[in-house]
Amino acid sequence: MKRILTGIKPTGYAHIGNYFGAIKPAIDLSSNADFDCFYFIADYHALTSLKTKEEFAEYSKNIACAWLACGLDPNKVVFYRQSDIPEDFELNWILCNVTPKGLMNRAHAYKAVVEKNKEEGVDIDSNVNMGLYNYPILMSADILLFNTNLVPVGLDQKQHIEIARDIASYFNNKYKKVFVLPEEYIQKEVQTLVGLDGRKMSKSYGNTIKLFGTEKELQKSINRIVTDSLLPGEPKPLDCTLNKIYKLFASKQQQVEFDKKLANGLGWGDAKKELFEVANSYLAPMREKFDYYMTHYEEVEKILADGAVKARIIAKKVLQEVRKAIGVEI
Ligand code: ADP
Ligand code: TRP
Repeated sequence: MKRILTGIKPTGYAHIGNYFGAIKPAIDLSSNADFDCFYFIADYHALTSLKTKEEFAEYSKNIACAWLACGLDPNKVVFYRQSDIPEDFELNWILCNVTPKGLMNRAHAYKAVVEKNKEEGVDIDSNVNMGLYNYPILMSADILLFNTNLVPVGLDQKQHIEIARDIASYFNNKYKKVFVLPEEYIQKEVQTLVGLDGRKMSKSYGNTIKLFGTEKELQKSINRIVTDSLLPGEPKPLDCTLNKIYKLFASKQQQVEFDKKLANGLGWGDAKKELFEVANSYLAPMREKFDYYMTHYEEVEKILADGAVKARIIAKKVLQEVRKAIGVEI
């Protein structure tokens, strides 16, 4: 039996990059009876960038409802909130002490802020809190606490899983072989989905399509997809952003037909209408479930509370082994 674990940090509304890159692959894996799945809302990770308690509550709720609306079945998956697992934060501290500072200096999220600060000529650590700096250690704790074998994520998280493996090895070598070495599970076709402007879709670039926006919002986002200036009647490049997004939602047959239409000069305006149709019919049933959970949030809270109880049974066991290995418990 393999343990599968992944989390999403609620720093904004779930978008289709999160869905196709992480949520859907994780949910697909959970239908395999050989896998024991632990999926969670990485709410304490979001503290590194959120400004208000209202944002914290709103985005956490959005991600929780999103997981369920996308098909997470709480009978097959242990579904919980990171902040309900105190063992995680104890392990985080212990792991801090086997992690060389240099490893954190090389972590890409921190490095990206440092590079930006250098370009802007401000202090290199401006806007860097210790939560951001130590982010990969808490993420390692999330993973190692549950003896995780596989972590389904998008490509941008690969380095974090490598760091978790490094930290597990440092601990195992210094004390005792307690931790399983986790591996990333990255599906090639969806490892980096493009956003409206052709760059990686990301909350931080403001180029996302919200997973559970209204129809109007979906339409608006699609209208913002950047296209070239080719006129109706002129053949369109098949590797354009619009077609990449279309392919996510379409059946094989729809994809072939759409390719033909683009090659035959379909205008961008009509192409956007077709994309809206296909995306909306894919998302509408999920949106309905999402709206249900948002208005019956007490059901979601109950699912998360039950999940935390189940998760803590494993977490306590692993933490106890760790405590014994370092000499806190005999
Ligand atoms: P964001 O970059 O928008 O802040 P997160 O860091 O919250 O997204 O990502 C949550 C999960 O979704 C991660 O597993 C991440 O790899 C995946 N993900 C996010 N954006 C994309 C994308 N554009 N393509 C593929 N996967 C993505
Ligand atoms: N870092 C992930 C993100 O940016 C969220 C996350 C936190 C995570 N802990 C994790 C993902 C453990 C996989 C496993 O969205």
